[in-house]
Amino acid sequence: MSIRIIGTGSYVPEKILTNDDLSELVDTSDEWITQRVGVKQRHVSVNETTADLAVKAAQRAVEAAGITADELDLIVTATVSADSLCPSTAALVQAAIGAKCPAFDVSSACSGFLFALDTAAAFVARGGIRHALVIGAERLSRIVNWTDRSTCVIFGDGAGAAVVAPGDNYLVSHLFTQGNDDVISIPAGPGNSPFYEREEPARQINMKGQETFKFAVRRIADDIRLVTAKAGITPEQLKYIVPHQANSRIIDLAARKLGVPMEKFRLNIDRYGNTSSASVAISLDELVRSGELQPGDLIALCAFGGGLSSAACVIRW
Ligand code: UT7
Repeated sequence: MSIRIIGTGSYVPEKILTNDDLSELVDTSDEWITQRVGVKQRHVSVNETTADLAVKAAQRAVEAAGITADELDLIVTATVSADSLCPSTAALVQAAIGAKCPAFDVSSACSGFLFALDTAAAFVARGGIRHALVIGAERLSRIVNWTDRSTCVIFGDGAGAAVVAPGDNYLVSHLFTQGNDDVISIPAGPGNSPFYEREEPARQINMKGQETFKFAVRRIADDIRLVTAKAGITPEQLKYIVPHQANSRIIDLAARKLGVPMEKFRLNIDRYGNTSSASVAISLDELVRSGELQPGDLIALCAFGGGLSSAACVIRW
């Protein structure tokens, strides 16, 4: 028993931060960010929490699925910018939307939505789940180092969600972890212990850009090759690839490595920046709502990021 996606939703906060706005905060320019990253603007929260963003995306996905929240049997949320370690973001969503099912978070940075989707698929395969809600939600503006121009220009806030039900559309998935705290890290923040003697760094995103870049290009190409081969198809047979939106140059290089046209890749990084675990979910929602998907179309989702981690899957629409 596999899954099918029966509804998607997404939400971004209203406030838009343009590249010109950012150039007033750090030494950067619209030209540099556009050329090196592909971002023109990102949305940032002024008064909404990560859970607030997740709730709005979740409500839209539940509505699109044509069900009510009490028909959900599981909620899994991916986030690295939760408002609290406890309760989980998923638990806060459960309360806010009026669901009664078990709810928990997974942490796998920018690959998080795909790890959460695969977790939901495994629960569905176990049996007893009519509908599961999978969310990727981030208020990265909370943990960005706003004095570091090499990271603060990349990220944005947002949330995306999907409701899944038993079905046979989730053909193949692949999850990858290469444990490492040197390339991308978000420390938990200073602790309270009067006994611990080592210094504990601030809770903020640290990233070695070029190492991450190389890892990302390699993983997209390897993961897409792997899941398409397992599905018995070629990458050319995919109608669309929905990638994590981290840098348009990463997508461009991965497309060349794979030998598929860039047009297959759905890009919205110019409008949202990198929203970590929300990014694939937001793009998927935009694709679904665009009406461009026909039943039977083959698509792939792929993501990469902290962990280090990466993931991909093939879905028959
Ligand atoms: O979602 C999680 C996964 N994250 C990613 O996949 C991110 C992957 N990495 C990247 O997207 C890119 O590495 C960055 C966008 C982070 C950085 O781009 P880059 O082309 O790798 O730049 P760089 O770090 O090699 O820096 C090149 C130059 C440096 O100046 P010098 O030393 O050559 O004079 C930087 O100081 O660009 C400078 N620079 C900037 N200049 C203007 C770095 N950031 C900026 C900036 N504005 N915002």
